Amino acid sequence: MKRTKIKDALNAQAPAADICIKGWVRSKRDNKGFSFLALNDGSCLATIQVVVDHTPEIEAALERLGTGASVAVYGELVESPGQGQQWEVRGKRLEVIGEADQETYPLQKKRHSDEFLRTIAHLRPRTNKFSALFRMRSKLAQAVHKFFADKGFFYIHTPIITGSDCEGAGEMFRVTSLEAGSKEPVENDFFGKPANLTVSGQLSVEMFALSLGDCYTFGPTFRAENSNTPRHVAEFWMIEPEMAFADLSDDMDLGEEMIKYLVAHMLDECAEDVELFAKWVDKGLMPSLETILKEPFKRLPYTEAIDILRKAKKEFEYPVEWGIDLQTEHERYLCEEKFKKPVYVYDYPKTIKPFYMRLNDDGTTVAAMDCLVPRIGEIIGGSQREERMDVLLARMQEMSLKEEDYWWYLDSRRYGTAPHAGFGMGFERMLMLVTGVSNIRDVMPFPRTPKSLDF
Ligand code: 4AD
Ligand code: MG
Repeated sequence: MKRTKIKDALNAQAPAADICIKGWVRSKRDNKGFSFLALNDGSCLATIQVVVDHTPEIEAALERLGTGASVAVYGELVESPGQGQQWEVRGKRLEVIGEADQETYPLQKKRHSDEFLRTIAHLRPRTNKFSALFRMRSKLAQAVHKFFADKGFFYIHTPIITGSDCEGAGEMFRVTSLEAGSKEPVENDFFGKPANLTVSGQLSVEMFALSLGDCYTFGPTFRAENSNTPRHVAEFWMIEPEMAFADLSDDMDLGEEMIKYLVAHMLDECAEDVELFAKWVDKGLMPSLETILKEPFKRLPYTEAIDILRKAKKEFEYPVEWGIDLQTEHERYLCEEKFKKPVYVYDYPKTIKPFYMRLNDDGTTVAAMDCLVPRIGEIIGGSQREERMDVLLARMQEMSLKEEDYWWYLDSRRYGTAPHAGFGMGFERMLMLVTGVSNIRDVMPFPRTPKSLDF
C-alpha cells in the first residue's frame, strides 16, 4: 500500500477507510487501553495524531517506538474528536521500521539551543525549526527560478572551477590534482595553470547577457576569507542576474523587485513555517517583512551615506571617512536606525571596488550599488559594468591585472559592446531575511566555516 504524506492526510476532504502513514515519532502518550503517537514525516510542520488500541501486537510495537523511531501506520483516517486537529488516524497495525535508542537519541522533546543543534547538523532537520527552515530554503530557491522565468531571463550554468579571480580579492580556494606537498610545477597540474573554485559567476554570465540578453546564474560560490561572523561562510549560493542594455538604476529596480517578490512569495507559500519563525525566532519578523513589501527602498549616494554616518550621534568601532568600505555596523545603522527600511548605497569610491565596475564621470567613483537590509546589512552587491574598452583597460592596468588573462572577457568589449548591469544576491542572506534567523550557519544544511568541516 502506498504511503500518504502527512500534509495530504491533514488536508483531506473526506475520511478514508484505508490509509498508510510513514514517519518519525515525535511523542508517545500511553493511556489505559490505548496510546497516542504524534508522527511527523517532514512534509509539513504539523504532526498527525495516531490513536491505537492496545492489543498484544500493538503493545509489542509501542514498546519499541520511542521518540525518533520510524514507523508505518496502517489504519483509517477519521474526524478527530480531540481539539486542535480535524483529522487523526485510527491505527490498526503498526510496523516498526527503525528503532531509536532512547538513552542516546539527542533530540528528546525539549527546546535545544542553536549552538547544540549545530553539533548535530545531521539530525537537526528533524526538529520543528530546522524542518521548517529547510522547507523554506527549497521554496525560496524555486521562487528565484520562477521570478526569473516569468521575466524571460535565461538560466546559465557558469563554471565552478575557474582560472580567474572575479572579485580580485584573492580569497580563493585552489583546485589541484597534485599530491599534497608536491613540488611539480603548475604546468604539470591538471589544467596546466592555476585553478580555483569560483568566487562569482559574473564574468561568465556577462558573456551570455551580451548574447542572449537577460540572464542569471544561481550556484555555489566559495570564499577563503577567514572571517568568523554570523554572516559569512566559505561556501554559499549566489544568485547573479545580468542584463544587457541596462544601467545602475535598472539594476537597483531589479534587486528591489526581486526582494519584494521573494518576500511576498514566501509569505504566500510557506505561511505555516513563516509563522513559526515569527513566533519563536524573531518577534519583529512580520513588521519588518511588511515594511519591505510596502515601502520603496531608500537610494543613497555613498558620499551622502558617509555624511550621515559622520553626523550620527553614535560611537562606531570603525571610524568613518570618505573612502572607507562600509562595515556591518555602518550598514545596519543606515537601514535600522536612520531609514528603518532597506537602503541602496551607490556610487562608491573606485579604490574599494573591483576592476569591472563602470567609472563615473567624476573619475573617482564607480557605478556600484549595495543593498542593505535591517538585521543583516549587505544582501546584494552589484554594479553597472565598464563597457568602454579604453577605460576598462586603464582600470586593469591601475590594478595590475594582466590583459592576456582576461582576453576572452575583453573580447565582449571589442565586439559589439553594450551597457549592461547585474548584481549578486547571497541566497543564504535572503533566507535569513525571510526567517529572522540571525546566524548564517543555521540556514545551511551543512555550513562550511574556518576550521569546521564536519558532516
Ligand atoms: O558583493 P559580492 O562580493 O559581489 C560579487 O561577487 C559580484 N561579482 C556579484 C555580481 O555583481 N554579479 O557578493 C554578492 C553577495 C553579497 O552581497 C552577499 O549577500 C553574498 O553575496 N556574500 C556572502 N554570503 C555568505 N558568505 C560570504 N562569505 C559572502 N560573501 C558574499
Ligand atoms: Mg559586496
